[in-house]
Amino acid sequence: MRYGLIGLLLLATAVSGALAGERGAWNWGADAPPIPADNPMSAVKVELGRRLFYDADLSINGTMSCATCHEQHHAFADGNRTHAGALDDPGRRNVPALQNLAWLSPLTWADPRQATLEAQASVSILGEHPVEMAMKGQEAELSRRLGRDPCYRSLFRKAFPQSRGRIDYADVVRALAAFERTLVSRGSAWDRFESGEKDALSSQARQGLTTFRRDCAGCHAGADLTDARFHRIGPVGADPGLAEISASPDDLGRFRTPGLRNVAVTAPYLHDGSAASLADAIAAHGQAVQSADMPPLLAFLESLTDHSFLTNPQFSLPMEACGKPL
Ligand code: HEC
Ligand code: HEC
Repeated sequence: MRYGLIGLLLLATAVSGALAGERGAWNWGADAPPIPADNPMSAVKVELGRRLFYDADLSINGTMSCATCHEQHHAFADGNRTHAGALDDPGRRNVPALQNLAWLSPLTWADPRQATLEAQASVSILGEHPVEMAMKGQEAELSRRLGRDPCYRSLFRKAFPQSRGRIDYADVVRALAAFERTLVSRGSAWDRFESGEKDALSSQARQGLTTFRRDCAGCHAGADLTDARFHRIGPVGADPGLAEISASPDDLGRFRTPGLRNVAVTAPYLHDGSAASLADAIAAHGQAVQSADMPPLLAFLESLTDHSFLTNPQFSLPMEACGKPL
């Protein structure tokens, strides 16, 4: 009995230690996100996903990787209003930043069906509305291309042992999603302020935070400054928004509240990229903002930039061939 209890305690310590190790490895902090049962995290899978994210072989003509539109120094957004696809089909919507995605659902501006990163990655690769990487019907070709590279053969074998050396399309999107779950940004001045470092924010930014909590946090809520719900903030424009999926006239012009982390480096703004600056984006909301409130609000939004995230080598183009220096 006594030994049984000690054994149990040892086991509990080992399990919680392993969980803490796993959270530490992906910088998830105390708040571990939900992970799909059929896509557990592993270091080799994340490394594979990172290579795939930067690989233009994922597009029909080898011209476009995920990172072509999602650039790290823009917090994985880009500097354009919209971005054309690999075959020059015009983009429809502004490229969103990619951070803290492990906790975010639904994904994209106005599609509540995009529940998982695995499904969303497939929309980028195979989607037709708009065509981005233009690989519809080319899943087998993608596997052949990747299979020519001994590095990929070895990484897929290690990351997905149950596929026994086959390179399945489903494993491509699983690896991409695993990498995306490691894109954690919690190192802004605002984070330091919230964890007790009171002078991490200037007095102007603190004043902006007070205004933000009063006027903005109803929608830009929580740790990632989004309620993940769909709102109409101004007049309905050309894009039907949520109504395109729901077919309900009440949903015309509704878009998912964007998270605002790193927002100072993701201009232009809004679903169509029509706001060139943060001040323009705020002004596009129907609600009036006092002009005296604007400089403090902007100072607060700038405090959401996490410079370590924008330069973290773990998220950048891999410089080594399969873990070995070139
Ligand atoms: C041609 C540019 C382009 C390429 C290439 C591209 N994306 Fe995107 N991505 C976008 C746009 C535009 C959206 C928003 C789409 C929408 O809301 O309708 C988006 C949305 C996303 C989202 C949702 C983010 C959120 O806040 O909800 C994720 C995740 C994502 N992309 C990952 C990827 C991955 C992984 C790849 C590569 C397999 C990729 N993207 C390739 C332009 C691109
Ligand atoms: C009713 C909900 C709601 C409130 C309140 C609200 N927002 Fe927004 N915000 C949104 C939605 C929805 C969008 C996207 C609209 C679009 O793309 O058409 C948005 C977009 C933005 C953007 C652009 C982000 C990007 O990546 O494109 C910024 C910046 C912003 N809001 C800041 C604020 C500030 C500051 C306040 C308070 C003064 C505020 N918002 C109040 C819902 C809200």
